Amino acid sequence: GGIITMDPGYKNTGSCKSAITYLDGEEGVLMYRGYPIEQLAEKSNFEEVMYLLLKGELPTAEQAKKFKSDINEYDVVSEDVTKILNAFPSTAHPMGVLSTLTSSLTAFNPKAVNVKSEEDMYRAAVTLLAKFPVLAAWTLRKMKGLPLNYSDSKLGYVENFYSMMFKQPNKELEMDPIVIDALDKLLILHADHEQNCSTSTVRLVGSAHTGLFASISSGVSALWGPLHGGANQEVVEMLERIQEDGGNVQKWVDKAKDKNDDFRLMGFGHRVYKNFDPRARIIKKAADQILDKLGIQDPALDIAKKLEQAALEDEYFVSRKLYPNVDFYSGIIYKALGIPTEMFTVMFAVGRLPGWISQWIEMRTNNEPIGRPRQIYVGEPKRDYIDLGNR
Ligand code: CMC
Repeated sequence: GGIITMDPGYKNTGSCKSAITYLDGEEGVLMYRGYPIEQLAEKSNFEEVMYLLLKGELPTAEQAKKFKSDINEYDVVSEDVTKILNAFPSTAHPMGVLSTLTSSLTAFNPKAVNVKSEEDMYRAAVTLLAKFPVLAAWTLRKMKGLPLNYSDSKLGYVENFYSMMFKQPNKELEMDPIVIDALDKLLILHADHEQNCSTSTVRLVGSAHTGLFASISSGVSALWGPLHGGANQEVVEMLERIQEDGGNVQKWVDKAKDKNDDFRLMGFGHRVYKNFDPRARIIKKAADQILDKLGIQDPALDIAKKLEQAALEDEYFVSRKLYPNVDFYSGIIYKALGIPTEMFTVMFAVGRLPGWISQWIEMRTNNEPIGRPRQIYVGEPKRDYIDLGNR
């Protein structure tokens, strides 16, 4: 019984109380644990931000060191996981592979997490933070047909991830600080975003008391979609298509406005941000700086800027408050760092991982009830069964 309020897409429904991320869509504010994203992107690093999301406070130097060594303790992935990896064709999309491998971790770490024990929860968190970048890097190695790399605890978290993706056998890998810093910044900007589609998925799956790894695997699948994290790959593919088509951005803006055409301007619009996306502002500036420092001239960046300008001058986009989102310029940076297009959403997943884990832990710690929305039934009224011969 009771009255059911319909809210398709949960546009106005709060699903939980959370102390992790604050977001004000009208003002373009984003804060992790009270710290503005602009300050974190500028001054912090991804290792620290992972700790902040998880523990609620920035670490002291000693805590940061311990956190890193705890992660290193769990950074070996069972050799049997490579059999699962190798069963995929090299043409498989890395996000599908990543979701499967993440889910498979359940089989290799079968002990259920005791949610009453902070220590147990922490161990589950660092286990996943340690193994996930290994799996993510392996999806790239698989796609490229390259031998797999393993974690090197001498390297920082981001350097290690980069090295596992790109180190060639018997060759030193040059690690340009410009590249590592850029990657670090992007990971920080993606680290949490309150109750977005993938995070809500992680919480909903976990609300049935499903384990952490299986819940996160569902989050990876949710993130894959082109309306969510998959948009970063779509943006760069769109920009390349516009370029091949002669670079007439107005034509593509008009196409996005045409209600008879399914095409949307990828990397534009957001459910919550109605003025600007603070992450997009930071990333746009970073894209300019990074390409400049690396001496890369990518026509896609010019097209992106022209496209943004044309859209922002257009009544359709203005009246609907559609602005570039986090995915609009991030792909251009990933491309400049030598990351293949199909890997862009995997990069997003590595960034979002600490957010997903922190949200899962918060949900279980708060002992939230199982997530179970209602519906309004619009099907057939009661009718009697008809025997096969009489149909
Ligand atoms: N291009 C053209 N029209 C758009 C776009 C777009 N990118 N985004 C929204 N609209 C229109 C939409 O057609 C609707 O028009 P009308 O009022 O005439 O029906 C209006 O704007 C409101 O859009 P909506 O689809 O009702 O808004 P939503 O909150 O349900 O969807 C969104 C948000 C992000 C899914 C959507 O803006 C979109 O599809 N954007 C493109 C994909 C994208 O960039 N996704 C990344 C999101 S940000 C980070 C992340 O999650 O990864």
